[in-house]
Formats: sequence, structure tokens, C-alpha cells
Amino acid sequence: MPVPHETEHLRFRRMTPADLDEMAALLGDPSVMEFYPAPKTREQAAAWIAWNEDNYAKDGLGLWIIETHDGDFVGDCGLTWQRVNDELKLEVGYHVSPAWQGRGVATEAAAASRDFAQEHTDSSELIAIVHPDNRASARVAEKIGMRRVNDDLGADGSVRHVWGMRLRPTADPSDDPAR
Ligand SMILES: CC(C)(COP(=O)(O)OP(=O)(O)OC[C@H]1O[C@@H](n2cnc3c(N)ncnc32)[C@H](O)[C@@H]1OP(=O)(O)O)[C@@H](O)C(=O)NCCC(=O)NCCS
Repeated sequence: MPVPHETEHLRFRRMTPADLDEMAALLGDPSVMEFYPAPKTREQAAAWIAWNEDNYAKDGLGLWIIETHDGDFVGDCGLTWQRVNDELKLEVGYHVSPAWQGRGVATEAAAASRDFAQEHTDSSELIAIVHPDNRASARVAEKIGMRRVNDDLGADGSVRHVWGMRLRPTADPSDDPAR
């Protein structure tokens, strides 16, 4: 099963239970999880890995481990189907270890995930769901070609910004923001 192409600094691979120590450290870090309800426990990190393994099997995609070409852990990035305003949309997501933040890796990885979505799915659209205060995440979305399209309410009733882009022209050309 394919994964996104390599980038200048990164390669992608599927996550497995062997990644639990690194994923628990990443998702348990309060700074990484600032815009989530709470940092994840080790058990919740294990469930995150299992969720992605299910997604690889079911959808042929998921959040993948991103690592350097030497195999150093950087974080996760990839694609999942999410319900937004009662519609299923393909979302790109990313989490980068604090030691690697600010070097352009999320942008590189998100762009490779966008290219994967274009090549390996028939979704017409790619979105990113972003907490209104998460400026770094919004900037990554913007840098891979998205613009803010609308808002959505999370499960807890909080507002989430939805960023999005077309992956391919639609049947209705007037619906294509590139025109
Ligand atoms: C969001 C995240 C993945 C970005 O990772 P990164 O590798 O540091 O991102 P990049 O270096 O590719 O680019 C970040 C961009 O955001 C900008 N940025 C970073 N922090 C910012 C802030 N607090 N306010 C405004 N812009 C910010 C950077 O300057 C850069 O833009 P630029 O190239 O125009 O200067 C990282 O901050 C992270 O893991 N955050 C916690 C998890 C998270 O919130 N994930 C998103 C869930 S939707």
C-alpha cells in the first residue's frame, strides 16, 4: 500500500504498535496538544495507533509516521476522513515534535499528503480543521494552497475553522475557486 512521496527532509511510513513510546511522548506533550481538549494518555496514544491501522486497512490512508531520511522520529502527518457540517471530508492533519517545529517540516509533509490525496483518492476536496487560535496550523494549511472556507462545530460545541482546497476541477466549472 503506497504512502506519500519522500520530501527533501522527510520520509513517510505506516505507524505500528512499535511506535507507542514516541507517539505517547508526542501526543502526551501539553504544548503539542495545546489546542486539543487534553494531552493523550499512553492508552489513548495506543488507541490512536490502532485507529490509524484501521484506517490504512479500510481506506488505504491514515496519519503516517514522518521521520528523517536517517530514521529519526519527527511526528505524524496524513489523511483521514472527518465529518464536517454533516459531510465526510478528507482532512490533512499534522503533529510535529517540539524539537522539530519551526523548520518547515509540517509544510513539507502536508504538501506530500496533499499530493498523495490527488494521486491516490478520488476526493474532489481536501480540508484542514483548525482551532481558531492555532495560527501555526492555519499557516501550514495556507502554505499548501488552502483558504478558509467555513466554520464547523466540534463535538463539544466549540467553533472550528475549516480550511480547504479543490484537488481537481469539478464538473461545475463555476465551483472551481481557481477560475
Ligand atoms: C502546527 C505544526 C504541525 C506546525 O509544524 P512546523 O513544522 O513547525 O510548521 P512549519 O515550520 O512547516 O510552518 C509553520 C508556519 O507557521 C508559522 N508559525 C509557527 N508558529 C506560529 C504562531 N504561533 N503564529 C503564527 N504563525 C506561526 C511559521 O512561521 C511558519 O510560517 P512561515 O513559513 O510563513 O514563517 C506544529 O506547530 C505542531 O505540531 N503543533 C501542535 C499540533 C497541532 O496543533 N497540529 C495541528 C492540528 S489541526
